[in-house]
Amino acid sequence: MRQQIVAGNWKMNTTPTEGFALAKDVIAQSAQSPNNVELIICPPFTHLAEVAKAVRGTRIHLGAQNCAMWAEGAYTGEVSAKMLANIGVEYVILGHSERREHFGEQSAILLSKIQQALGNGVKPILCCGERLEERNAQQHIAVVNAQIESVISGLTAEQMQQVVLAYEPVWAIGTGLTATAQQAQEMHAHIRATVAKHFGDAQANATPILYGGSCKPSNAAELFAQPDVDGGLIGGASLKASDFIAIAQGFKE
Ligand code: PGA
Repeated sequence: MRQQIVAGNWKMNTTPTEGFALAKDVIAQSAQSPNNVELIICPPFTHLAEVAKAVRGTRIHLGAQNCAMWAEGAYTGEVSAKMLANIGVEYVILGHSERREHFGEQSAILLSKIQQALGNGVKPILCCGERLEERNAQQHIAVVNAQIESVISGLTAEQMQQVVLAYEPVWAIGTGLTATAQQAQEMHAHIRATVAKHFGDAQANATPILYGGSCKPSNAAELFAQPDVDGGLIGGASLKASDFIAIAQGFKE
């Protein structure tokens, strides 16, 4: 059985004060979601130390939205994986399409970031996803497989055990357009086959693959019912605790 995961990507939303209140709400409502679902919240950097204290001893896990590709040193404005690990961050989102688009993060950079994360005991949530024009040109499967393959081929089998993958079609992020359950399943099966090609069936069957892109309470259950969809990476709907928990309820107890 793969770990079922629902992770909230808060992006650049909420002040630290608002974020702390949101974290408290998520903690308070978390008992209403199935016990076997791992709940992760990923607030902005400024919130992490305070939210880390709030989630300690609860069932909520903490993730960051980025980390540096270097260990330490003269990199003004960067935050290292070691700093994140030190305050109790367990996960880090890497390769999100917004980072790929606005910050030019491609495979080589992502691999360095993943090495930093894993070297500090922080588990990467590696994102991939095609643009609409790529899907329309029937290139979506090749594009996504290349995104995944170019990074995971640089990992050891032991490192791969710590990696969570997330498929987020760019055309579905923040647009209200969701991939159909069939589109998600088709892509997740391809991603799993790519993992199998490099690390074998056992690892492929153990790697959680999350879906992201306008996932909400009304469509979560259908998406999560797909055999290769192991949960969700939630943007907009993670900013309201009741929606975030309702999405986790898309998994049956
Ligand atoms: P969305 O974002 O749920 O707002 O579409 C998902 C994501 O970008 O992780």
